[in-house]
Parts: sequence; C-alpha cells; structure tokens
Amino acid sequence: MKKICIIGASGKLGQYMVQHALDRGYEVVAVCRAASVGKLERFKDRIAILPGATDDRRVVEQAVAGCDGVLTVLVPWGMQKYSTGTAQAVLDFAPPGARLVFSCGWHITRDGRDVYPLSIRAAVLIGGWLMRVLRIGEINDQVEAFRRIFSSSTRWTVVRGSNLEEGASQGLPVWSQHVGDAILASNITRRIDFAMFMVEALSNDELIQQAPAIVGCQTPSALTAASAT
Ligand SMILES: NC(=O)c1ccc[n+]([C@@H]2O[C@H](COP(=O)([O-])OP(=O)(O)OC[C@H]3O[C@@H](n4cnc5c(N)ncnc54)[C@H](OP(=O)(O)O)[C@@H]3O)[C@@H](O)[C@H]2O)c1
Repeated sequence: MKKICIIGASGKLGQYMVQHALDRGYEVVAVCRAASVGKLERFKDRIAILPGATDDRRVVEQAVAGCDGVLTVLVPWGMQKYSTGTAQAVLDFAPPGARLVFSCGWHITRDGRDVYPLSIRAAVLIGGWLMRVLRIGEINDQVEAFRRIFSSSTRWTVVRGSNLEEGASQGLPVWSQHVGDAILASNITRRIDFAMFMVEALSNDELIQQAPAIVGCQTPSALTAASAT
C-alpha cells in the first residue's frame, strides 16, 4: 500500500483518515467539495487535493488513478443519488485489485441477519422520513449504493460504524458480523478509531468482501467479550 485516495476527506471522519494515512507514510490524494478545501488547510503541503463533488465521475476517475487503495465516506446527502453516484464511480474507476473501503452506519445490512434495537429502527425510520420530507437526503440512496458494493467482485470492505463520539484514541475497534451480537452492545466508538479501522482495513485481507460492524475496544461490551475469551 503506497498511494491511496480518500473520497470525502474534509468531513470529520475524513480528516482523521487523512492523519492516520499520513502517519503510515501513504501518499494521499484527497477529494472534497470545493467549498470545503479550507478544512484540509493543515494537510495542504503533504497531500494532493482534488476539489469536486464526490459523485463527479471525472473527478473520481482522476483521483483514484494509480491508487492501491480507496477510502470512501458514503453519506446520503441531497436528492440526486449522491451516495450511489460516488460508490459507482469508485467501483468503475479504481484500478483492478485496489482495496476499496467504504464507511456507513450500522443501519446498512448485508445479509438481513442484523438484529437492531428499537432505538436504531426508530432513528432510521424517523430520521429517514425527515430527511426525505425536508429534501436533505435519502437513506434509500445509501442502501442502493451498498447493494451495488455488496454485489461487486472488487476487493471491497464496508465498515459499519456504531454511534460515534469525539475523544482520544482508545485503540483499534473490535468488530462482529452482525448488529445484535453481544460484543457490540455498547454501541459507541471514538471517531478517531473508526478512521483507524478504515485505514487498517486497507492492508487486512481478512476483511475483503466483509461488512464488519465495529465498536470501541474499551467499551463495556468489548471488554466483557474479551474477558470471556
Ligand atoms: N455521525 C455518526 O454518528 C455516524 C455513526 C455511524 C456511522 N457514520 C458514518 O460515518 C461517515 C461520516 O461520518 P461523520 O460523522 O464524520 O460525518 P461528517 O463529518 O458530517 O462528514 C460527512 C461527509 O459528508 C459531506 N457532506 C456534508 N454535507 C453535504 C452535502 N450537503 N452534500 C454533499 N456532501 C456533504 C462532508 O463533506 P464536506 O466536508 O464538504 O461538508 C463529508 O465528506 C458516514 O459514512 C456515516 O454513515 C456516522
């Protein structure tokens, strides 16, 4: 892994991923909306920045050229199928064999075997409805983006984040196949560690074509699972 692209680099998760990638010595190409380039000011001498919408196929094609890995922040903003456009452009233009790592929340399911607490079902139902009515975004766009990724034959990983909080790193999150597994019960991860998991996934072949649901390694449910083993 030498050169990587980070799509959606200017958001909170994106900026942490840029830092982790630089710490590992990777050459970084960052894509973010033109209006957000200033958020990457502190990295500007160490990364290449391509301004543009993350679903702009020409921008994505240029950004991922020659990259060994691509980290993509997928969010369902707007009503123009933004997530689907971003995911499809990455799947279409990333070099063959590149590691592709995508972010989302626990609400995305690969095989329908996740067991969600009422709080998450309500949040998705009410939040999704509100987003659609206010025309802020469409959860179904994100669902379609991940359907395409799951059915792709590329070397993808979908990292499904729990609720997030800020704070110092606690270490690499632990993960499980399905929401509802006891190890995930605490449902909280430091955002900096979510980003660490994304960057680590680039070089972890065990995660190829997996959709790990993650939780902080110092949370009560993770510690209970660790002591049981
Ligand atoms: N937040 C949570 O509690 C949570 C929980 C679980 C999983 N996740 C996952 O974590 C990832 C990012 O989370 P985050 O909390 O770091 O989010 P964030 O900082 O809000 O960043 C999200 C991305 O959305 C972009 N964005 C914001 N408004 C936009 C708009 N109107 N149109 C187009 N793009 C827009 C941002 O770009 P700009 O910098 O240009 O604004 C940024 O690249 C997502 O994949 C999300 O599903 C989040």
